[in-house]
Amino acid sequence: MSGHRPQKPETKLVHAGRRSSQYHGVVNPPVLHASTILFDSLDELEKAATGGGPGKTTYGRHGTPTRFLLEEAVAELEGGFGTLCVSSGASAITNAILAFVKPGDHILITDSAYFPTRNLCNTFLKKFGVETEYYDPTIGGDIAGLIRDNTVLVWCESPGSLTFEMQDIPAIAAAAHDRGVKVMLDNTWASPILCRPFELGVDVSVQAGTKYIVGHSDVMMGTITTATEQDLLTVKKQILISGDAIGPDDCYLAQRGLRTLSVRMKQHHKNGLKVASWLQTRDEVKRVLHPGLPDDPGHEIWKRDFSGACGLFSFVMKPVEKKQLANMVNHMDLFGMGFSWGGFESLILPSDPTKIRTATNWDEDGQLIRLHVGLEDADDLIADLEAGFERLKTA
Ligand SMILES: Cc1ncc(COP(=O)(O)O)c(C=O)c1O
Repeated sequence: MSGHRPQKPETKLVHAGRRSSQYHGVVNPPVLHASTILFDSLDELEKAATGGGPGKTTYGRHGTPTRFLLEEAVAELEGGFGTLCVSSGASAITNAILAFVKPGDHILITDSAYFPTRNLCNTFLKKFGVETEYYDPTIGGDIAGLIRDNTVLVWCESPGSLTFEMQDIPAIAAAAHDRGVKVMLDNTWASPILCRPFELGVDVSVQAGTKYIVGHSDVMMGTITTATEQDLLTVKKQILISGDAIGPDDCYLAQRGLRTLSVRMKQHHKNGLKVASWLQTRDEVKRVLHPGLPDDPGHEIWKRDFSGACGLFSFVMKPVEKKQLANMVNHMDLFGMGFSWGGFESLILPSDPTKIRTATNWDEDGQLIRLHVGLEDADDLIADLEAGFERLKTA
């Protein structure tokens, strides 16, 4: 790294978190497996017992340089003070929230949040004495009216990963910071390069690295990035308590994924918008939920805060019978059916948001289908969907 000239994300992706000169010149950081770490002296042992200092290996669960270098790269890409890697996106969400709450607190969670985030709030946090209030994702600066004296955090997910409402993060952050409340963002949709969360006022940004960082549908991992050193330490203490530890092989694969993130995201962006625009022309489709489309209600915010789109969006179909839907999705050639996203391959997922909404209504009568548009040729994907729509007629 030059360390002097500003670098574009494409350049950072290639060079961040490598430090080849420290590892015999090898291009990719080595995989350092460890549980036990040996110390040369009582002095060193005692230093390790008090944390060992940043980037120091003290025990396998606390990480080895394979993890530290991945953390360095993600922090640089997202623009935060520092990053901590954990074993899944769900663990990142849980640890980020738990780090900042205590019994008696009140938290605000977007109604569009990923279901396991709600599940944490509705089960464990409720038992722990933390009150959750869900809010309309499009609330913007009016979030101020929901902030109480005991509110400690506002959780955002923009766009929501099922229904794709864009959130006005700078407006939410201004209102929250006015009352000393932290703003946290599930930033997975943007990956670490399509949105600069800390420039928008976010305090803690979470990524399900499982998705685009890894990019190959074969590793679970999560990242928590903070704006300040103090918040990083707070999260670190929570992760130590949770006992979470991501292994070095998974960190290595995530590092490999990172290097091609930019070229992959450009293709997801292009393919996703092509498929979304085609869906808008179809009679079977009521509406397409993609903030990159000019007529999407969140388009202006997306244009202001994001430098591109990933491959994940939804569409609502005109009502069909269950057997018609099954005939459509059961026989796709290219779109697989599965709960994840962010890999190189395309996925199709029928879903029902009514079950997971409380602050806002989901009153569409048609089936919602979430697509992850992968790196295949977009025309081949369109042909696969077209054949699926044809099968609606033959069920
Ligand atoms: C928006 C979002 N955040 C977090 C997660 C959790 O990630 P993981 O599956 O790695 O636990 C997911 C997983 O689907 C997700 O879609």
